[in-house]
Amino acid sequence: MTREMEFRDRSIIVIGGTSGINRGIAEAFAESGAKVAVASRSQEKVDDTVAALKDRGAAKALGAAFDVRNPEAVAAGLAGFNAELGDFDVLISGAAGNFPALMSEMSVNAFRTVVEIDLMGTVHVMKGAYPYLKKPGASIVNISAPQAYLPYEGQAHVCAAKAGVDQITRTLSMEWGGEGVRVNSVVPGFIDGTEGAKRLAPTEEIRQQVLDSVPLGRMGLPDDVANMCLFLSSDLATYVSGCVINVDGAVYQRGSGYLGQQMGDMLRAMRKSN
Ligand code: NAP
Ligand code: COA
Repeated sequence: MTREMEFRDRSIIVIGGTSGINRGIAEAFAESGAKVAVASRSQEKVDDTVAALKDRGAAKALGAAFDVRNPEAVAAGLAGFNAELGDFDVLISGAAGNFPALMSEMSVNAFRTVVEIDLMGTVHVMKGAYPYLKKPGASIVNISAPQAYLPYEGQAHVCAAKAGVDQITRTLSMEWGGEGVRVNSVVPGFIDGTEGAKRLAPTEEIRQQVLDSVPLGRMGLPDDVANMCLFLSSDLATYVSGCVINVDGAVYQRGSGYLGQQMGDMLRAMRKSN
């Protein structure tokens, strides 16, 4: 049995891989000499990421611009990746949208937008990739969030969507397990400097309060999440499937805690001042 994580010349697809955590994941696979494809809505972000992946040592790097809410566009994009890279060894599905908003104050379309990106986007990506997954051997990692199992005021849309993502992970680990496809979710903690972190902790004061609550005493880095994705997708994890794994410095053992209520308080205070 190998004790190495070896991705040389393997085909890795990272959806939503052009910024933040997901880009960190794509870059980590590139540094391992893999063939890496990324996708997101912005062609500019795709081009910038593809150039960075080549610089970091990817055996091949390519990208496509599409919106995960459009199943036909997702299917066409994945078919293009398959034509260039062959069948997929690894699929990372991480495109997401988030904004703090109280249910009584967000439109139905606002709620639907996040469900369409996070949950339906995951469905479109997984179904679109299915014909091209290496069988046996493929690893899928869905990028989830603590909102999947912890309630946060101002996050009903994200909580609903990400809970759905994790249940798809668990269900498809059974449906696709017989074909040798593994499906797991990774739950990042508070990953410093990212768009998600900026939206949920918009002031330095809130950021400091979050930091003070992390048992391991530091914020997460994109590399922390990337390392778990590498492990889950490697030959070291061939018996790991159907798992939802936190990479969070143990912070969510404390529950939704301060942030769970604080965001609601912040939004209610903004309502009063308007
Ligand atoms: P980010 O930098 O905003 O990354 C989101 C990525 O998804 C970008 O590449 C974005 O690129 C793409 N995207 C967004 N909407 C899309 C759509 N409709 N179709 C296709 N691509 C789309 O955010 P992040 O904070 O790093 O978060 C990355 C993942 O980690 C998300 O799944 C998030 O829920 C999860 N997470 C983050 C944290 C955190 O602390 N940041 C904590 C827990 C979980 P375009 O704009 O070009 O489309
Ligand atoms: N509060 C309340 N509602 C909001 C909102 C906010 N802060 N931001 C957007 N909405 C609503 C809009 O008003 C709209 O509803 P309406 O049609 O009833 O007015 C709906 O959400 C869709 O907004 P729109 O701007 O058209 O969506 P989009 O498809 O252009 O962008 C978002 C999607 C809103 C999720 C955008 O924030 C985005 O692209 N996010 C990606 C990056 C990200 O969120 N990263 C963090 C990941 S954890």
